[in-house]
Amino acid sequence: MSATEIKKDIHWVGAIDWSIRDFHGYSTYNGTTYNSFLMLDDKITLFDTVKASKVSDMMHNIRSIIDPKKIDYIVMNHIEPDHSSGLPKVIDLIQPEKIICSPMGKKALIEHFHQENWPYQVMETGKSISTGAKTINFLETRMLHWPDSMFSYIPEAKLLISSDAFGEHYASSERFDDEIEFHEWMGHNAKYYANILLLYSPLVQKLLENVKKLNLEIDMIAPDHGLIKRKYVKEILEAYDRWSRYVAKRKAVIVYDTMWHSTEMMAKAVYEGIMKEGGVSAALYDLQVNHRSDIMTDVLDSKAVMLGSPTLNNGMLPRMAGFLHYMKGLKPQNKIGSAFGSYGWSGEAVKMMTEIMADMKFDLPEQGIRFKYVPEHAKLKECVEMGARIAKMIKEQVQE
Ligand code: FEO
Repeated sequence: MSATEIKKDIHWVGAIDWSIRDFHGYSTYNGTTYNSFLMLDDKITLFDTVKASKVSDMMHNIRSIIDPKKIDYIVMNHIEPDHSSGLPKVIDLIQPEKIICSPMGKKALIEHFHQENWPYQVMETGKSISTGAKTINFLETRMLHWPDSMFSYIPEAKLLISSDAFGEHYASSERFDDEIEFHEWMGHNAKYYANILLLYSPLVQKLLENVKKLNLEIDMIAPDHGLIKRKYVKEILEAYDRWSRYVAKRKAVIVYDTMWHSTEMMAKAVYEGIMKEGGVSAALYDLQVNHRSDIMTDVLDSKAVMLGSPTLNNGMLPRMAGFLHYMKGLKPQNKIGSAFGSYGWSGEAVKMMTEIMADMKFDLPEQGIRFKYVPEHAKLKECVEMGARIAKMIKEQVQE
């Protein structure tokens, strides 16, 4: 790990977390980074800090450039502990002249660390501060994804420091978007959006409009996680626009859990129906082996979500209940839903899954299919036909 100059006199000095595998329920198979940026000017400024356990890594990077005690300002764009839990230690070491944050950021810092006397300087949207040759403009981005979140924009460098927005959970020796394969990079961004920002999509739309109105010249976006965008700035802004408008592709996801393979047989029959109709791609997700956050990544731009669970104890299987709870919280929109499942005697699961999708305002053109115990081969035709009908509907609704 080493500091990296990303623009003249602006350096990445963050920390790489190679080991984290769960980020409050989001699977981080590739680890993550906590990005901090050091800007050298008359007033030396550190943008964002890192997790408490990673402060020594960040300090090591800063020391490779300057004596940390020379830092004048710390800008805290976001107060979630992955960026702020190291702050008390950093303040002790640096004794900064100012801690710059949004109005909600000051409130959140006090509510986290109970320090009324830190040298806060609150910056609302539209305010700016000069550091000498450079300026930092602030833009509050409330609820993207916390009330305190804000962006810092440095016009002289055409650089947007975007906090969590435009991030990825991805630990690597590379620091820039063009240093890894494009589709892999976009996949990490999609997973991040689907699991962190999807709920706030209406606000993302407003933010994108706002950024357009401000006419900011941006040739680099430096998020607090993952790779810095320098080649694919336009592509990531376009992807955020699509995702936040819930634009879907001709895709379906079939998500199921199974007890004794009957519901699995139904899931495969639904898949077969989609394939028979043709022109729509589909993926089968067995909840026993797939993580909810990976499934959500595929839900993000799929038109249909088809759910299968047998009935257990008058309800659906617990993994399906967990997945539905998670998906409902993220509020995907503009989807077609359907449910299926086997049962032995009471058979409530299909109705329950359908009701939850109705609450989520999914379009539900089908009643749902239930089979008692083990479906006969001929009966599975109903599932095949349902898959084909949904695929046809997807093609009618999604232009290529
Ligand atoms: Fe990376 Fe919302 O913290």
